[in-house]
Amino acid sequence: MSTPNEGDALASRFPAAFAWGAATSSYQVEGSTGADGRGKSIWDSFVNEPGRVVDGSNGDTAIDSYRNIAGDVALIKSLGLNSYRFSLSWPRICPDGDGRVNDAGLKYYSDLVDALLAEGITPWITLYHWDLPQALEDAGGWPERATALRFGEFARIAHEALGDRVKHWITVNEPWCSAFLGYASGEHAPGRREPASSIAAAHHLMLGHGLAARAVKAADPEATVSIGLNFYPVHAASADPGDLDAARRVDGVQNRWFTDAALRGAYPEDVVEDFKAVTDFSFVLEGDMETIHAPVEVLSVNYYSRFNVTGNGGATSASAAPTGAGSAWPANEHIGFVPAGLPVTDMGWEIEPQGLTETLKRLHANYPEVAVAVTENGAAFQDKLEGGRVHDLDRLEYVQSHLGACADAVAAGVPLVGYFAWSLADNFEWAWGYTKRFGLVYVDFETGERTVKDSGLWYGDLVRRARSNREAE
Ligand code: FCB
Repeated sequence: MSTPNEGDALASRFPAAFAWGAATSSYQVEGSTGADGRGKSIWDSFVNEPGRVVDGSNGDTAIDSYRNIAGDVALIKSLGLNSYRFSLSWPRICPDGDGRVNDAGLKYYSDLVDALLAEGITPWITLYHWDLPQALEDAGGWPERATALRFGEFARIAHEALGDRVKHWITVNEPWCSAFLGYASGEHAPGRREPASSIAAAHHLMLGHGLAARAVKAADPEATVSIGLNFYPVHAASADPGDLDAARRVDGVQNRWFTDAALRGAYPEDVVEDFKAVTDFSFVLEGDMETIHAPVEVLSVNYYSRFNVTGNGGATSASAAPTGAGSAWPANEHIGFVPAGLPVTDMGWEIEPQGLTETLKRLHANYPEVAVAVTENGAAFQDKLEGGRVHDLDRLEYVQSHLGACADAVAAGVPLVGYFAWSLADNFEWAWGYTKRFGLVYVDFETGERTVKDSGLWYGDLVRRARSNREAE
């Protein structure tokens, strides 16, 4: 653990106006999935299919955030954070995914926003963090263009209700996961394994992004609009041409496909060529790329790990890849992920803090017109609650080293505007259920009781130092 002086030194390396936060998402924390007129989402259906979630669990209760606004806000405040990133459950607000609005669902978010603002905590809203209304999946889901149009409408509805108080809007979270884990490998809801559809889904998620970004901007030109993407430095496992090409392909889909579309209005040519093996792109219509190329002020960076890839899928080690094996990579089935021998988290994800500095510097070099925020960063480890404490030195060191990596990026001139730890509290980790703990706060999943972990205490201390240094200036 750092000494007070080291804490001050790290704190002083961040800009004065900085969003110090933690993040969550609706399905992972809210629970109350049947309350107050909420519609069903694709995750409600998926978790009920045998074998989809390792511990057979679901988000029916999650960590009960829907019924605990006061407790959650008090926790955020106790950590000294000035920002909180959470997502809206689309089916809570629009139960059928269409224009019919459920006022009770909207009220929850409105109350949460008010409670945050009353404590001086700035809300950052994610409009889509994977819980598509089941009604829209029944009509074809993200591979259908209509879903993107519905999403644009949902953004307008959400902004109309909350935009008077909320200025930070992230359109979609990690469309890579929604498209390729949802529709190619089937590891996430809705669990389909259709490579061609997954590319159409990826396109419609981006079209949805463009429509949502434009809806928010039309209503409030001062709003800060962002898209949340998951980035990984990609290394070839060897100098073998097959491995080098695998690295190009993975980097292309993961790091360039979505950013080039959003910020340049064009998909990268080399990846288009790769994808032609499985799709003819007939779903890309005239004008789509212009719509997708909507004004964005901040690029939201979710960073966890790095990839070491081979073109020889036979060597795949599923545990070395945050995303499982090559089935999540359409037209790239021979790709494999091999460990580089770095320390790993409880997810098996290799830990490489300087990869975050590299990622931020590269994004700034390629897209200098946007600011960047780290909107997710964190690690799962096996925690033990003992005597009212969780001594999670492993997570503390993870967060500390990655904040150091952020500070290095700031020193190199990257316009970094915020850092959000994933996650505020332990929660439902998708296909891993409750078996993976990412929180700064430990949650007893039986009683819902919260205990701030040592990593949370350390982070809170750093944030207080950073904020008080700046307030003193
Ligand atoms: C990200 C997701 C988030 C959480 C973390 C661990 O890909 O956005 O919901 O699952 O990974």
